[in-house]
Amino acid sequence: MKAIVLKDLGGPEKLLWEEVADPVPGAGEVLVRLKAAALNHRDAWIRKGLYANIQLPTILGSDGSGEVAAVGSSLSNDLLGQAVLINPCLDWGPEIKTQGPGMRILGMPDSGTYARMVVVPAANIRPKPAHLSFEEAAALPLAGMTAYRALVTRAQVAAGETVLITGVGGGVASMALQIAHCLGARTFVTSGSDHKIERACALGAVGGVNYRDEQWGRKLRQLLQGRPLDVIIDGSGGSVFERALGLIGPAGRIVTYGATLGAARQIEVRRIFWKQVTVMGSTMASPQEFDALVQLYSAQELRPPIDRVFPLQEAGEAHQRMEEARQFGKILLGI
Ligand SMILES: NC(=O)c1ccc[n+]([C@@H]2O[C@H](COP(=O)([O-])OP(=O)(O)OC[C@H]3O[C@@H](n4cnc5c(N)ncnc54)[C@H](OP(=O)(O)O)[C@@H]3O)[C@@H](O)[C@H]2O)c1
Repeated sequence: MKAIVLKDLGGPEKLLWEEVADPVPGAGEVLVRLKAAALNHRDAWIRKGLYANIQLPTILGSDGSGEVAAVGSSLSNDLLGQAVLINPCLDWGPEIKTQGPGMRILGMPDSGTYARMVVVPAANIRPKPAHLSFEEAAALPLAGMTAYRALVTRAQVAAGETVLITGVGGGVASMALQIAHCLGARTFVTSGSDHKIERACALGAVGGVNYRDEQWGRKLRQLLQGRPLDVIIDGSGGSVFERALGLIGPAGRIVTYGATLGAARQIEVRRIFWKQVTVMGSTMASPQEFDALVQLYSAQELRPPIDRVFPLQEAGEAHQRMEEARQFGKILLGI
């Protein structure tokens, strides 16, 4: 089959369109003929060598949707031809509160979805929600799971609470906005683009500020009109996380799920204890949360925001767009 193969670390040009052996499903596994894959920032971190335990060569890609084309031994042939989406979290483990030591994310070291076909455990496929296209279904899993766990399981956002989502153009952040809106939160956003703030408002945000303005914190306080921020959902890390400790309200919760900007250098500890703040980490999600996410998007007929669909061969161009943060929502590869 044809796939995008990463053999060496480096720029988007390292994503090579090559012929590789067709994957074969083992016991308990299915072969999915992919129709769409989605990018995640993880893919760029791996490509650049900024991820743990990188093993090359590899086929990147955690998210995918398609049709079951073959099943391994012990599985029913009834699965053949089913339209499915893939839960990219392999071997989460028995606990909901945290992943087990064997947890992996599809797409390095396990061969991922930047390919015509992928093999995954049958336990990781679910029927594609009828209202979603294959592209929309591929956009949902990794970012949606991360957003769902951060908002629902970790922060336990309640209706009427005031929530800030940073960098709303991102894949996780744009879906966090949709989920926060479903939960009945009053949601504010930051973005590096006024146009993206407008799009976020069309998706239910009350307002937003542009983080390229040094005064964004002060401007956000003006927008809040004295109401405290109950929850901040942040994937930026770095100086944004530092500022979050100043912006969060009394007894507020901050959920961190990423560090696009790197480490926070100066944590003002006094703000955490004086304001009775809870800081929580969140990563991916259990199978139960994946099912709850799919159920939520099906029941509410929600569609993950799709930025653009590139042909699979143009994975490098797609990476470039993500690294320049030009997207609003998910960048897809059509297969
Ligand atoms: N823990 C987990 O399980 C998990 C899961 C998924 C992702 N992550 C991590 O979370 C981060 C986001 O992932 P993603 O796939 O959603 O990435 P993405 O789609 O590439 O989005 C990244 C976004 O970061 C925002 N950003 C950049 N500079 C910023 C700044 N100074 N202040 C605020 N926002 C800024 C941009 O928002 P605008 O476009 O609005 O400017 C950009 O769109 C990555 O670091 C990723 O590795 C972790």
